[in-house]
Amino acid sequence: MIITKKICSFCNKKIENYKKLVIGYKAFICYSCIFLCNKIINNDINNIEEKKFNNETFPKPKEIKSMLDEYIIGQKQTKKIISVSIYNHYNKIFKINNSEIEISKSNILLLGETGSGKTLFAKTIAKFLNVPFAMVDATSLTEAGYVGEDVENIIYRLLQNSNFDVKKTQIGIVYIDEIDKIAKKNEGSYGRDVSGEGVQQALLKIIEGTIANVPPKGGKKFPNQEYISVDTKDILFIFGGAFNGIQTFSGTNIGFKKKSNFSNATPNDLIKYGLIPEFVGRISIISTLKSLKINNLKKIIYKPKNSILEQYKAIYMLDNIKLVFKKSAIKYVAKKAFKLKLGARGLKYILDKYFIKLTYFISDKKIEKVKINKKTLINKNMINIKYKK
Ligand SMILES: Nc1ncnc2c1ncn2[C@@H]1O[C@H](COP(=O)(O)OP(=O)(O)O)[C@@H](O)[C@H]1O
Ligand SMILES: [Mg+2]
Repeated sequence: MIITKKICSFCNKKIENYKKLVIGYKAFICYSCIFLCNKIINNDINNIEEKKFNNETFPKPKEIKSMLDEYIIGQKQTKKIISVSIYNHYNKIFKINNSEIEISKSNILLLGETGSGKTLFAKTIAKFLNVPFAMVDATSLTEAGYVGEDVENIIYRLLQNSNFDVKKTQIGIVYIDEIDKIAKKNEGSYGRDVSGEGVQQALLKIIEGTIANVPPKGGKKFPNQEYISVDTKDILFIFGGAFNGIQTFSGTNIGFKKKSNFSNATPNDLIKYGLIPEFVGRISIISTLKSLKINNLKKIIYKPKNSILEQYKAIYMLDNIKLVFKKSAIKYVAKKAFKLKLGARGLKYILDKYFIKLTYFISDKKIEKVKINKKTLINKNMINIKYKK
């Protein structure tokens, strides 16, 4: 087509550089709008402003909580607990010299069913603080000498994430998921075999603080190799686990019953579950995430920055299609997701499935607007679209 107007159809700004312009049907998009859309689509939390903190500018717990509120729905108690522990942890790093009193590290354990936001908490915090972040599944770890991933590999990933800046790495955050899966097998329980305990043993040192010697290319250690030395004493460890069926001392089953204020698990409950006392001793904060109710699920669809809906709207906007998602649709999807018992994961599952069909169906049509409500979601053959004139 012949370009008559040199204005981006999205931001309305003049387009200066023609090489970086995408021409669509009666629309242009400039490079910076493409870049922005890419950001929204590619990463849920890419848009958090990256900041550099020091002891003067480090956010106070209430500021951390407000930031978390923008990305995470519900989980008020965990937000408060995390905000304060993060504040304490980094305040300590920035303000206390080595010569002064030793304040022990505040490693955190997040308990909660799948899709309740455990990983989201860890990622959001790391992104917000602009510190290196590494995520690992506890089930992939092994004791030294066995086939699998050595625990030092976790630190290797942090190093990778900070472009091998050792100083930065040393104040990073490591998230270890599925920690409940390396519980040792108690008599009559269904924990993992002996090696579960071995992995816990192997983790003890790096979570407490040690000089970890990391092979410069990751992978297994072998003799006479050169290492990168990383002090792990200020690395914050966050653990996540569902701990299905955990029994709290009070006798209530905190495993996601309908009760709204179930009690938090105690260190003793974790030991009973199969975490070794030395391991539990290195976790100072335990917070239980609530299972998400229909009301939370509704909000998760549209409210957080870069919500699922916002992302779909951005995708459709690239084709100049306006996406209208009615309240009845939000309610319907939330209710359906609630039944799946996959937490917020269920929402994405349902919506992705629907949007694949919809996007395919409209891909050969010239459309201006698509309206989605409960009826169009239920009835496979129904679609509410406005064609371009
Ligand atoms: N409380 C919440 N608020 C907003 N989004 C959430 C929440 N909980 C989960 N999600 C979303 O659901 C998905 C799965 O969440 P995740 O944090 O990976 O769950 P978990 O680690 O507890 O299994 C992610 O896309 C996440 O953004
Ligand atoms: Mg997770």
